[in-house]
Amino acid sequence: SFIHDFAISANYCIFFQSAVQFNPLPYIFGFKGAGECVHFRPHLPTRIIIVPRDPKAGKPVKVLSTKAGFVFHHTNAFEQDGNIYLDSICYDSLYQVKTNMDYREIDFDELAPGQLWRFTLNLEEETVEQQLLLSRCCEFPAVHPDKVGRPYRYAYLGGAHQELGNAPLQGIVKVDTISGQSCFWSTAPDGFVSEPVFVPRPQAKTEDDGWILTMVYNGKKHRSEIVILDAANFEGGAIARLPLKHHIPYGLHGNWTNEYFAQT
Ligand SMILES: [Fe+2]
Repeated sequence: SFIHDFAISANYCIFFQSAVQFNPLPYIFGFKGAGECVHFRPHLPTRIIIVPRDPKAGKPVKVLSTKAGFVFHHTNAFEQDGNIYLDSICYDSLYQVKTNMDYREIDFDELAPGQLWRFTLNLEEETVEQQLLLSRCCEFPAVHPDKVGRPYRYAYLGGAHQELGNAPLQGIVKVDTISGQSCFWSTAPDGFVSEPVFVPRPQAKTEDDGWILTMVYNGKKHRSEIVILDAANFEGGAIARLPLKHHIPYGLHGNWTNEYFAQT
């Protein structure tokens, strides 16, 4: 199988074994890209593997199943009311990457969009329920760092400019997982975003009191910039832009470090 990510809650590590088969040998020997070696198998279920974090507790590993699909990234997981809640970006199917494909010729309408779903897992009854949290095509979720594995309210993701269908990520969407509402900051038509990073304001009292940082590539100017949003006020637009004199190759994931590594 092929597992890219996992989530943690207070007591469990949660893995999704998606309905794919993965033979890495052609990739290891340099004949194919990694994506070409992953094959979607829609007749297989998705297996949800729930591993206790504390081996001394003596609890067994549990495996639940749900319908076929594919997950690269999980947003967060937490335990509440006897359930485990897991929020993940799900695809109905996984597009087959072929040899010598040109990424510029991708037809986005042919691909299933990633959408944010909530899975409710009940270990005693061995049930899985799922509920759509966001239909807008999205990927690369981020949450407040103190909320990882804990009950939380807000998720921040890269999102497509249009509300339905598949398209490149051209803005940042903020999802209120409790009210179900979302708001969107767009950088279309020329901007393409990377994973948002949430930076809490020191001594913040509310979960969304802080900033969203994202690297935006501007296709018209062929330059990149870091854009900073007020996480509590998306409607106000960017509160700062740090333009670079050059572009940075599109990097997908977002990371923050307090250290400066280049030579001064
Ligand atoms: Fe990833």
